[in-house]
Amino acid sequence: MRELTAEVRVAPQQFIQPHFVVEGLAAAEPVDGLPGVFRDTHDSLLGRVEKDLKAGTNKVLLFGVPQHKTQQSFEFDFTARQIERLRESFGDALWVAVDVCLCSYTQHGHCGVLDHAERHVHNESSVELLAAAALKYAQAGADCVAPSDMMDGRVVAIRKALQDDDLDHVALMSYSAKFHSRFYGPFRVAAESAPGGAGPRDRASYQIDPARPKDALRASLRDAEEGADVLMVKPGLPYLDVLQTLSQHTQLPLAVYQTSGEYAGIELAAAANLMDGPAAHVEAWTAFVRAGAQMIISYGARHAARYLQAA
Ligand code: PBG
Ligand code: ZN
Repeated sequence: MRELTAEVRVAPQQFIQPHFVVEGLAAAEPVDGLPGVFRDTHDSLLGRVEKDLKAGTNKVLLFGVPQHKTQQSFEFDFTARQIERLRESFGDALWVAVDVCLCSYTQHGHCGVLDHAERHVHNESSVELLAAAALKYAQAGADCVAPSDMMDGRVVAIRKALQDDDLDHVALMSYSAKFHSRFYGPFRVAAESAPGGAGPRDRASYQIDPARPKDALRASLRDAEEGADVLMVKPGLPYLDVLQTLSQHTQLPLAVYQTSGEYAGIELAAAANLMDGPAAHVEAWTAFVRAGAQMIISYGARHAARYLQAA
């Protein structure tokens, strides 16, 4: 009866596996808090993706981490090259989404470039760079570009850059409802993207305030109008209300990001024998689908089939 009466079901096909690929690394390094997740070299990335692909995980979200951080002379070559290599190695068997942001590229770790006084993130010049990055990744063969920066107007700028270059087949997934969250901790170490040094102390001036769900809805609907193909809520569990409301206000497909901090929380509790980790992940994933998500970005994507079967 329980099987027959379930109102929602979660399927392994809904999952996207994040990967970090780091320039200048001698060997893959584990990421603290995320068991089984690594900062990969370009070779170890291929090995890991190949293994996942054989086991059925065929969708990835790539984070490129270049060695040289900069303030103004951005190139995006390293990440573009990784996309090309994934495409050469796996062809269309692998769906490749690429995170588009500047925080792993800048010396100060902000998601955009700073104004002259280095007091604020400068929206316009950041948007120009983000559109250039997205275009380059699309030209390199990405199936999907996913801006995570939260600058205003970046979706329309990326949409236009793709259109002008005849790259309309590339999907644009906007991190449209991305909150100013503490649940990004392990990620920032892995992506070398924690804000520090010049500029604002944190990302509160461009990421959404947790107390402003209407801002999240407004930003998401704006991104839809600007030409996004997929909207996203991030983090997941603390913002299920936002996900549910958004699903009632848009016809676009929705993604949810089970962030590094959310994932690590479950893993740490499980390692301390305080809960059943796989079952807790399945419970969280079920909540995402219940609230309206079709796509789930999770560090446990490669375990989804097994965990779901056991549940
Ligand atoms: C930054 C970015 C973040 C994540 C993806 N891209 C977080 C941040 O604002 O530092 C979060 C991923 C995670 O925590 O798993 N553009
Ligand atoms: Zn960023």
